[in-house]
Amino acid sequence: MNTMKPDISLSEQIPVTEPERQYYYIEKAKEYVKNLEAQIGHQPTFCVVTFGCQMNARDSEKLVGILRKIGYAEEEKEENADFVIYNTCTVRENANMRVYGRLGQLNRVKKKRPHMMIGLCGCMMQEPEVVEKLKKSYRFVDLIFGTHNIYKFAELITTRFESDRMVIDIWKDTDKIVEDLPSERKFHFKSGVNIMFGCNNFCSYCIVPYVRGRERSRDPKAIVREIERLVADGVVEIMLLGQNVNSYGKNLDEPMSFAELLQEIEKIEGLERIRFMTSHPKDLSDELIEVMKNSKKICKHLHLPVQSGSTEILKKMNRRYTKEQYLDLVERIKTAIPDISLTTDIIVGFPGETEEDFEDTMDIVKKVRYDSAFTFIYSKRTGTPAAVMENQVPDDVVHERFDRLLAEVQKISAEVCSVHEGKTVSVLVESVNDHDDTLVTGRMSNNLLVHFPGEADLIGKIVEVHLDECKGFYYLGTRA
Ligand code: SAH
Ligand code: SF4
Ligand code: F3S
Repeated sequence: MNTMKPDISLSEQIPVTEPERQYYYIEKAKEYVKNLEAQIGHQPTFCVVTFGCQMNARDSEKLVGILRKIGYAEEEKEENADFVIYNTCTVRENANMRVYGRLGQLNRVKKKRPHMMIGLCGCMMQEPEVVEKLKKSYRFVDLIFGTHNIYKFAELITTRFESDRMVIDIWKDTDKIVEDLPSERKFHFKSGVNIMFGCNNFCSYCIVPYVRGRERSRDPKAIVREIERLVADGVVEIMLLGQNVNSYGKNLDEPMSFAELLQEIEKIEGLERIRFMTSHPKDLSDELIEVMKNSKKICKHLHLPVQSGSTEILKKMNRRYTKEQYLDLVERIKTAIPDISLTTDIIVGFPGETEEDFEDTMDIVKKVRYDSAFTFIYSKRTGTPAAVMENQVPDDVVHERFDRLLAEVQKISAEVCSVHEGKTVSVLVESVNDHDDTLVTGRMSNNLLVHFPGEADLIGKIVEVHLDECKGFYYLGTRA
């Protein structure tokens, strides 16, 4: 792509500090994108495809922010875009396989449209075997970077424009947090806000600590400043993001608890709703329960992954709580906040899981009565301690247990969700209904959805809705 090189003076000083350096590269990349536009005869387009969790979704907003700033326009279909980026997840093997499958298809498109660029980033790229495989068998990929240097995106794109080869930049870890870079929100009225990065828990099945690095908390002032800006820009609901928000602030120069941070955020005028995820049961404090109970803004929803109901398995998982401790915590939460909605994550088929262990999981589901639960089949992740544990559970046994668990979870969930029938609740209107455009869809504080007659101008507003009828996992309602 050297032929497209714009005339940028060599004597120009490249800033060494961030984010100034990235703003410099944004300007530089703009020139390359303009040249590309002249070459292909239309404004270049991008498509960012996101796999995995909320953390990745937030990262993708940062990618989109940069791409728009440098002159790309958004394109919905990846096969039509001039720049396709997969922001990958590797938490389970199937997340991984999907990326390879889609890359194969993209290669066929690129053969017809050679100026197309393909970028890969996110958690999968932090695994050395993945990058080796890409280098060997996926030479058509243009740009590969990881989770730690995503803030360098503008610089990396510029590097790709200036080179003829695959650009790969992966960092093992970082203690750096770069603030104040552009980002583009998917919704104008709600936003995710990172409060910390990485994870130090090393649950024995989980790859996240290896691909997201050590735990780092953002400075509370930077978090509050970001939320204030978001609110000034129309945001009414925020979701605070971290792999384990309950250990927020422990490694700050001036340590601060998550509950204290929430109280600071609560003071922000104009902010209506606060959500957060994920909470690790071992670190959920009574202080936090108290703050949630007294808050006017924190939503009545807690995602509290249990993973297993068996104390024996929890020990092998390195979760650092027992079945009894978890149930006791749930009891304390429900006593303090009776209308709280609880959701969870459960893994079936962890190595060594016996029928008795699985019965403990069924038991905890029956006792807690979750509003909903994400159930996962254990997936072996190379490099984690569980991958080399003995007694991996045979597939047929795992599937049979998984089906039993799912049936129970769904039965309970339908019962738990229906208790709100007849109530009038506040909902944040999120969208026009996909199937019926006379309806809009709103989210209650407890995270349940309700569809009710309304117009698009309600989107982003909080309104009172009467819950007429529960339809299993959602409601039909009318404005009160
Ligand atoms: N930090 C969060 C979870 C992040 S990963 C927490 O601790 O709750 C999201 C979920 O994926 C986990 O809660 C777990 O249930 C599931 N998960 C993680 N690794 C897995 C694996 N190897 N196999 C199956 N499910 C897994
Ligand atoms: Fe993975 Fe455990 Fe960290 Fe969650 S807390 S990201 S499950 S290691
Ligand atoms: Fe997946 Fe990475 Fe999130 S592995 S679940 S995208 S932190």
